[in-house]
Amino acid sequence: MAEIICIIGNKGGTGKTTLSHMLCQGMGLLGQRSVCVLTDTHREPLDPEGRRYLVADARTREALGKVVDKIRGLPGWLGVIDGGGNRSEMDRKLYSLANLVLLPFRDSHEDMRTLIKDLEAFPRAWAVPSQWPTNPWQQEAAEKTLREYLGHHADRILQPVNTLSASKLLLLQDIPAKLPTPLGNACRALAYQVLDMLEIGCETPLDEAEEGVAGEGLHEDSVNAPATTDAFDAAANLGRSPTRH
Ligand SMILES: Nc1ncnc2c1ncn2[C@@H]1O[C@H](COP(=O)(O)OP(=O)(O)OP(=O)(O)O)[C@@H](O)[C@H]1O
Ligand SMILES: [Mg+2]
Repeated sequence: MAEIICIIGNKGGTGKTTLSHMLCQGMGLLGQRSVCVLTDTHREPLDPEGRRYLVADARTREALGKVVDKIRGLPGWLGVIDGGGNRSEMDRKLYSLANLVLLPFRDSHEDMRTLIKDLEAFPRAWAVPSQWPTNPWQQEAAEKTLREYLGHHADRILQPVNTLSASKLLLLQDIPAKLPTPLGNACRALAYQVLDMLEIGCETPLDEAEEGVAGEGLHEDSVNAPATTDAFDAAANLGRSPTRH
């Protein structure tokens, strides 16, 4: 049976949507088929073209039920459901149907205060430091705040996802044909961590070399996705892509 991962949390802007797409892209890079599921009524579905994963529109309660049922019927697939900020009831629903629940939070007192409430409300959920600083001084300060605020929950905090400006490329309606290598590496690392938690075997990802140039300028293909729309349609017996209207 497919696994369902939900990325939720009461605080807005923590990185739920970005992490959902990074996770799916990383799954694709690691050879896993996944569907990124949109539930946020304030957002539009993104074009699946060129992504290593599919996207599904589940902005209504009925659509969510149908999409989850379809994904559940696809052995070996992963569904990543992107929640929306400040939607406690939806968070509870998504929590109840997920195999794995992630709660992103940033290096901010407000995020951490909200996270503590969410960790208490959702005892199976894991916290993911998101948009985490890479500068050593900022990182040290962030870790200090984290220890002070979240010391009691230290065993529920996963490896951070660093601030990476290229991450916004995955949220473009149409993604570029080539994506920066550091983005691919970050996506793979996140997906590997999640697959490990789900006890889904895959080879340890090796970071792609940046060929001697610092920054986010080098690229890897985003095309040749293993999770094609056709595959999802065929497997789910759909007449069309879940995102096409
Ligand atoms: N790892 C990252 N590095 C740099 N910027 C990031 C990262 N993750 C998220 N962001 C940026 O932070 C902002 C909020 O991210 P995102 O939309 O993913 O949050 P969200 O939790 O889905 O928000 P909402 O609650 O509105 O749904 C966006 O501008 C996004 O580009
Ligand atoms: Mg969002």
